[in-house]
Amino acid sequence: MRTVALVSEKGGSGKSTLAGHLAVQAQADGAGKVVIIDVDPRGSLANWHRARERETPEYKPLHAQQLEEELAAMDRRGVDMVFVDSPPALTGEIELAVSTADLVVIPVGPSPHDLYALGPTVDMVEDLGGKYVFVISGALPEAAINEETTIALCQFGTVSPVVVYRRDDYAVSMIDGLTVMEHDKNSPSTEEIRKLWAYLSKRLGRVEQPEAEDKDENNRRYPRWTMDQRVAVIRGGKTMMCRLANISAGGALVDVGDFVKDGEDVILDFESLGQLQAKVKHVSGGKAGLEFVDEARTRWAVVKQLVSIVESSHDTDLAET
Ligand SMILES: Nc1ncnc2c1ncn2[C@@H]1O[C@H](COP(=O)(O)OP(=O)(O)OP(=O)(O)O)[C@@H](O)[C@H]1O
Ligand SMILES: [Mg+2]
Repeated sequence: MRTVALVSEKGGSGKSTLAGHLAVQAQADGAGKVVIIDVDPRGSLANWHRARERETPEYKPLHAQQLEEELAAMDRRGVDMVFVDSPPALTGEIELAVSTADLVVIPVGPSPHDLYALGPTVDMVEDLGGKYVFVISGALPEAAINEETTIALCQFGTVSPVVVYRRDDYAVSMIDGLTVMEHDKNSPSTEEIRKLWAYLSKRLGRVEQPEAEDKDENNRRYPRWTMDQRVAVIRGGKTMMCRLANISAGGALVDVGDFVKDGEDVILDFESLGQLQAKVKHVSGGKAGLEFVDEARTRWAVVKQLVSIVESSHDTDLAET
């Protein structure tokens, strides 16, 4: 699970707008189960979410003191991405939001006033060792001050190359519980948020989505790697060494001969990397298509480790098919 906190002491800098937009964009981009946690006592996104009439992303108003516990619970129940919206303050509660985040996004308006107001926020995030990125938000197109703001911000830290411009659709779409992407999928604002999430998710170290992919029941997308590895398949207490033809975090294709049948429960044993529980979805020509049934995090962890071990032992990048 990854957590992004939107933090800035400056009121109206775009935290809530970006929290809602990034959560919807991440969900649409296949980031899995996405939740917005609102630790702003005013519940800034509550009206938006109420008007939304859509189940995703999930919205959870919370007291910041409960944040750590709630994040652990969300992680256990398979949540993949959390966006934390916070009030314009620098309290111990905001510190909790910062210290529990993988990435802190600091929206900054392109004005001298916004820049002057930034110091305490940056000091707090740095003191807590938070990884942060500035996003210029509410910029007027073509304004010279945008560039000057970027240069000034670069003195502090990383600045998103994607600027969020001032446009009515950011506010208008949210009145109806939507986002600019759902308001008009071809608008400049839609393109902006798409690029901003692509940039931020890369900074989060999230695995890139390749062209070919598997989808699970939640429409989550997984890259699939071609393999040629031996793997132990366990069925009903019996073990057989088989050849792993390909694998993704959703499932695998394994040469099993007639060792397993459709619908059976099996375990793939990756020795030191761990085991993955799977269901046989189909068998044909001695090859079984398996669907993993463990929690997404477990599957990802094993598959990512396997891919990196195989890649480093062959000193090559495995083909994603
Ligand atoms: N890119 C944008 N273009 C136009 N309007 C915007 C943009 N971003 C935010 N707004 C509007 O600016 C106002 C403040 O934005 P928002 O509520 O997201 O800021 P905030 O940082 O969450 O504020 P607070 O600190 O009070 O929580 C809102 O009315 C919002 O609709
Ligand atoms: Mg807000």
